[in-house]
Amino acid sequence: MSFDTTAANQQRHRFDADARVWLFGYGSLIFKADFVYISRRPASIRDWSRRFWQGSHDHRGTPDAPGRVVTLVPDPGAICHGMAYLITPEVFDHLDHREKNGYLRFMAPLTFEDGSGASSLVYIATKDNAAFLGPASDEDIARQIAGAVGPSGRNRDYLTDLATALHALGKSDPHVLAIVDALSTEPLAPIVPSSRKPEPP
Ligand code: BEZ
Repeated sequence: MSFDTTAANQQRHRFDADARVWLFGYGSLIFKADFVYISRRPASIRDWSRRFWQGSHDHRGTPDAPGRVVTLVPDPGAICHGMAYLITPEVFDHLDHREKNGYLRFMAPLTFEDGSGASSLVYIATKDNAAFLGPASDEDIARQIAGAVGPSGRNRDYLTDLATALHALGKSDPHVLAIVDALSTEPLAPIVPSSRKPEPP
């Protein structure tokens, strides 16, 4: 599978012009909603777990030094908490581009906090995509995140923004917290000046 999933996603679902669609967000979509939505509600999906197993070459890393971002992995009985957005289909043009590095849209039933449900679309980077990195120890994941930066910013900020957003929802994710803990013992990445000033005499 190529890295760029934009074209594949555009073939995956057909929407009526006046359709309204629930989009389930479990990663950056929770804390970076840079799209128009009609409403949003905390929600969860069952049988999936969030994992920092996807490489980021375009947002929180580079092709030479990829970062790690979250995807969902099948996990029978697990509950993944996140945020659901009610959107119109044209929003997918933006999201398909934003999440093009290996993520495909899938349908998944979600549950709102009041117990009611709806069908939703969710972006998942499956293990057969070219940017998939897979499991590693919490320490190794933290080390990779600590050293990665890309066009969307530092990978460590993605991690802390996600942990903060989940906390604000009143949720915690043991995998995310374990990496936050491991990263707190990692040294800060050095700041490299873009041009060195001459030393004063
Ligand atoms: C999300 O927050 O749901 C999401 C994460 C990664 C890629 C696409 C969406």
